[in-house]
Amino acid sequence: MSTKFSSKLSTILVAAGCSVGLGNIWRFPYVAGANGGGAFLLIYLVSIIIIGIPVMLSEFSMGRATHKSAVGAYKELGGRWHWLGLNGVLAATIIMGFYYVVAGWTTEYFAMSVSGRLADFSSASQLKDLFGAIVSNPWQPLVFTLGFILVNHLIITMGVAAGLERVSKVLMPLLFFILIGLAINSLLLPNSLEGVVFFLKPDFSKITPAVILEAVGQSFFSLSIGLGALIAYGSYIREETNLRSAALVIVALDTAVALLAGFIIFPATTSLGIDPTAGPALVFETLPAIFQALPMSMFLSTVFFVLLMIAALTSTMSLHEVLTVYLMEEWGCSRKKGTTITTLIVAVLGTVASLSFSVLSGVKLFDLNMFDFMDYLTANYMLPIGGLLTCIFVGWMLDRDVFEEQITNKGKLGGSIVPVMIFLLKYVCPIVLFIVFLNSIGIFKF
Ligand code: PHE
Repeated sequence: MSTKFSSKLSTILVAAGCSVGLGNIWRFPYVAGANGGGAFLLIYLVSIIIIGIPVMLSEFSMGRATHKSAVGAYKELGGRWHWLGLNGVLAATIIMGFYYVVAGWTTEYFAMSVSGRLADFSSASQLKDLFGAIVSNPWQPLVFTLGFILVNHLIITMGVAAGLERVSKVLMPLLFFILIGLAINSLLLPNSLEGVVFFLKPDFSKITPAVILEAVGQSFFSLSIGLGALIAYGSYIREETNLRSAALVIVALDTAVALLAGFIIFPATTSLGIDPTAGPALVFETLPAIFQALPMSMFLSTVFFVLLMIAALTSTMSLHEVLTVYLMEEWGCSRKKGTTITTLIVAVLGTVASLSFSVLSGVKLFDLNMFDFMDYLTANYMLPIGGLLTCIFVGWMLDRDVFEEQITNKGKLGGSIVPVMIFLLKYVCPIVLFIVFLNSIGIFKF
């Protein structure tokens, strides 16, 4: 990445590239579907506004104020608080473990679209069986997962990362338009309305502490906050860029992509008889069925899966960077060595996650296989804990001037939003997150 983003637009597009990924298109629909639809969506949106935006602004501010990434920024601003950055480094590492597996599945569906083999599977039950057969085969998904890790490694080490960022600036808007087209198509399917109602209409009886935790966790995962990845981004943002409007645009784009994914998947589930609570399989069972009903189905599905692979790559590159920079700053590794160590660690974790649907399916922690455990632990605990500590740090420990200077560009922009943000960071976010945690582990019931 260049030392400074060349413009506000590129700040937004690169950070949106980090935020928009499998989290929006694969994870959001599956978690929303498994947690009651509309009730989940409502809490998700509230969490984005009252917690997501303040935490994103905090991370950007810390990065731009120090020109460092997570651990270094905490060291400079808060001395002993640097261990906070470690939670994020660990979270990024574990996320990569399962994220690459999903990227591997995406690549496998891409390969099946190119070869036309995907066209042999069209009914809901055939597609369900196909996904089951793919993940329970030990070798094939592992090869695709490790292949994706290798491609990610080569892109980083061969210095083509900047090139990928450039193409993604063109390709991500294309993905966005394709998503709009697919959503319109899904809404026009017979019986689509039932799915729309499931997605949008909150059934308040479905709101439980676990659902709240899932919704808050998904908002963190989707926005890439709570692990310090955006602290590193903040350090590349120019002094004159307005952080508030940049954050708002990034949040709006990220949320729009997630909502579009919902409008594609849920109307199709009721129309095609697919179970919306299918879990991580949901998108892979639904999307091919949607393509099948369209003209030029294999061409469209190939284009779609390529774009999804690129969306995944821009996210894995930033996750990879979190651990690499940590190894460089704290352990004195060269960039080359840091990158290689990171790749080796995630190759091991990716292997474990990939095999957790086949030979390692009996290995369980808290009743979850290793893939689900990595997913659940990071999104629902590590990221919100990182977010909680970020709020406490910026709200209570950090010199207020540091945050205010960043938010107002040293007084050039109006400051009326500062007290609102400080109030959210000091009281609302920590209290809400704390209650959500206590509730979910059953210590405190409301
Ligand atoms: N937000 C990314 C996605 O939705 C995942 C991610 C999380 C990327 C944390 C970087 C840091 O796919």
